[in-house]
Amino acid sequence: MSGSAPLKRIGILTGGGDCPGLNAVIRAVTKSAFNDHGWEVWGIEDGFLGLIVGRIRKLDREDVSNILTRGGTILGTTNKADPARFAVATDEHGDPVFHDVSDLVMENYRTFGLDAVVVVGGDGTMSGAARLIPRGFRCVGVPKTIDNDLMHTDITFGFMTAVTTATEAIDRVHTTASSHHRVMLVEIMGRNAGWLTLYSGIAGGADIVLIPEIPYDLDTICEVCHRRAHVGKCFTIIAVSEGARSRDGGRTVHKIVKDSPDPVRLGGISQILAEQIAERTHLETRATILGHIQRGGTPVAFDRVLATQFGNAAVRLLATGQFNRLVVMKDYRIDNVDIAEVADQQRTVPPDHPLVAAARSIGTSFGV
Ligand code: F6P
Repeated sequence: MSGSAPLKRIGILTGGGDCPGLNAVIRAVTKSAFNDHGWEVWGIEDGFLGLIVGRIRKLDREDVSNILTRGGTILGTTNKADPARFAVATDEHGDPVFHDVSDLVMENYRTFGLDAVVVVGGDGTMSGAARLIPRGFRCVGVPKTIDNDLMHTDITFGFMTAVTTATEAIDRVHTTASSHHRVMLVEIMGRNAGWLTLYSGIAGGADIVLIPEIPYDLDTICEVCHRRAHVGKCFTIIAVSEGARSRDGGRTVHKIVKDSPDPVRLGGISQILAEQIAERTHLETRATILGHIQRGGTPVAFDRVLATQFGNAAVRLLATGQFNRLVVMKDYRIDNVDIAEVADQQRTVPPDHPLVAAARSIGTSFGV
């Protein structure tokens, strides 16, 4: 189809780790496309995998009815399907053999007659999309992730729901920590970015917040626990990012997922820290890893609204011929940037961020 011909059929895919609000985006894109433009919308299953193997189906109104509040994604997703580096087999050692299957993606894109694709995902998905653009792939990106680590957007949908879930967990840990006079660590997702821990740590009133961007000092953490005990606060709550690390240590790797383009999975730092703190302070210490609970469940109202705005904005961009853009939120306004600008990048917490300063002012320790 030529650059200026009107669109007739668009695709939509959800890639990377799931998060609450994906279905709200699928609904907004599909309904806006139907109501405002009369386009067909085709659902691509399991992210780019659907385009690699040709698993694509036409969506109708019934498919997107009653999904606004539903967690997960009706289209399925995977974080193992980067077209430029797709595991096609395993070698004699059981290690994956990667191939560039971009040609297959483009073949299916054309065979299914797609005029453009709404790509809903995080940095990995956007990077995958950006690499297909020179081959003629037309897309618009919608920023998703509980980690809130996508460049050029102040917020991604799914983040506020995860903040709410993690905050509720910290609240619950608070009461048991206080009853038992314990040091309690709550380990929060976020990969290399501390946004989720920073927000939920502040919202949950954590005494210590440990994020990857501010490497901690174990002595300082133990001092804070002791100081609190001396002034009669016989418990301490520590919100710790899965990516947190000490000044002289590295990240704690939980596992390596060999056939994933981004194979490192973080996790376990809270258990290591709990043992170290208990050994040094002789205070009773426990760790809770929240894990995938943070990615599940119904989206909070904020994410439902954001997802609806993002989905509708994606359709507007397509309708006005603005391809290969990423919908973003900047200073409370919906905007867009070149999708290539977010590829292969992560937005982390600046250590001098106003939220860090505000938390410090109210007495929260960052373990340094
Ligand atoms: O990017 C979202 C996220 O939940 C991260 O916070 C976490 O590190 C990772 O995905 C976990 O990945 P998986 O679902 O493959 O275990």
